[in-house]
Amino acid sequence: MNKAEFITAAGFAISLLFHVIQTEVCPPSCNCKPLEETKGLQIDCSSRKLKEVPALPINTKRLYLQNNSLTTVSPGAFDSLLSLEEIKIFDNPWNCDCHILYLKLWMEDISESSLANIRCATPASVRMKPLNQLTGNELGICKRLLPIKSLEFFWRDLILIAAAIFTLILLGWALRSSKKLVCRIELKNLHAQAVLAATVRRY
Ligand SMILES: *[C@@H]1O[C@H](CO)[C@@H](O)[C@H](O)[C@H]1NC(C)=O
Repeated sequence: MNKAEFITAAGFAISLLFHVIQTEVCPPSCNCKPLEETKGLQIDCSSRKLKEVPALPINTKRLYLQNNSLTTVSPGAFDSLLSLEEIKIFDNPWNCDCHILYLKLWMEDISESSLANIRCATPASVRMKPLNQLTGNELGICKRLLPIKSLEFFWRDLILIAAAIFTLILLGWALRSSKKLVCRIELKNLHAQAVLAATVRRY
């Protein structure tokens, strides 16, 4: 195999791998089946007690996620599914706080009608309410607009600052007590010298 052939083969292998990773991988907990007429996939992840939406191949045509334990969909989770034609996502204990807004808006674009059978489970004030009847008031405002990452940095910085202050206090305390110690030693020395002098004088 010459160099050009090798590069072509390697490129082909990499693109194939990439293609497989990108499009063919069935989520481990789901049942996937290629659809004859098109190049798409039918992904059945229903009734599997899923708590999170699994990573989905981009050629997903039909997606069944009903009867699971999903409470939310992370923003952007469905954005890559450009060839999606059908989605079933009802019978999940949706938590209808502000984070459900992504699902609501996405469903409004994809399939307005199926929004009516997606019902909230929590919070109690909107229990059993269909997602399409949820008002902005009920969604509430996201109090934590900081993404998790910067929140992590915030805590890390706080801990570092606290540690620095603690070290300074400790250092100050150590300095002060060491000064006291030096004084005490000097005093003791003086005392010892005085005693010695007195003893010497006595004899
Ligand atoms: C829902 O899923 C559970 C298992 O998680 C299963 O036992 C039950 O039969 C399913 N219900 C429906 C209506 O599919």
